[in-house]
Amino acid sequence: MNDFWNDRYGKDQYFYGTEANLFLKEVSNNFPKNSKILCLAEGEGRNAVYLASLGHLVTGVDFSEEGKRKALLLAGKKNLSIEYDVADLRDYDFGVEKWDGVVSIFCHLPSDLRSEVYKKVQKGLKPDGIFVIQSYTPEQLQYNTGGPKDKDFLCDPEIVKAGFEGFSWPRLEVSLTEIHEGLGHNGLSSVLSGVGRKK
Ligand SMILES: C[S@@+](CC[C@H](N)C(=O)[O-])C[C@H]1O[C@@H](n2cnc3c(N)ncnc32)[C@H](O)[C@@H]1O
Repeated sequence: MNDFWNDRYGKDQYFYGTEANLFLKEVSNNFPKNSKILCLAEGEGRNAVYLASLGHLVTGVDFSEEGKRKALLLAGKKNLSIEYDVADLRDYDFGVEKWDGVVSIFCHLPSDLRSEVYKKVQKGLKPDGIFVIQSYTPEQLQYNTGGPKDKDFLCDPEIVKAGFEGFSWPRLEVSLTEIHEGLGHNGLSSVLSGVGRKK
């Protein structure tokens, strides 16, 4: 899988573009000033760089070395700085009460790993910490507009709620919406969008 992503990111063009995800932009005012934010499966850095431009202290994590290279290039072009760890989320140490925010934009994982990662997010967030997620839902398999083709990687609100004990969900919805992000996401899409808060 790592080779697949390195190959995808090994070109000059940014596969998902350089603009941040629109849902993240819409809800990023939930992060207090100077938040310490972890961006999961950060790819080529568009979301981490956007959050850094708002003054947050951002770390991306992804297992693609090419993703890291492109992300640091993008940050450098904008005179911004981000941290970026190359690691498999299966092995990554999220720490304990370390983050004000964790961001998961199109981080599609097999269900066993997804529940492990949700546990690490819960532990890693500080009290009142914010989790932002956008993911394709199983209904996305009807549209050929982006995302994995294996249902096991797709997510719905029940899965998310069950994965985060004691969180409140100011936003958690499924919508059919136009998504246009580089070459990778294009057209009418079924997405889950959520903002969760740790108590
Ligand atoms: C659809 S891309 C999304 C990239 C980025 N979040 C964005 O929205 O532009 C999915 C990303 O997940 C990463 N990924 C998949 N499985 C992973 C794992 N087990 N550990 C770390 N990264 C992973 C891939 O390398 C890829 O960059």
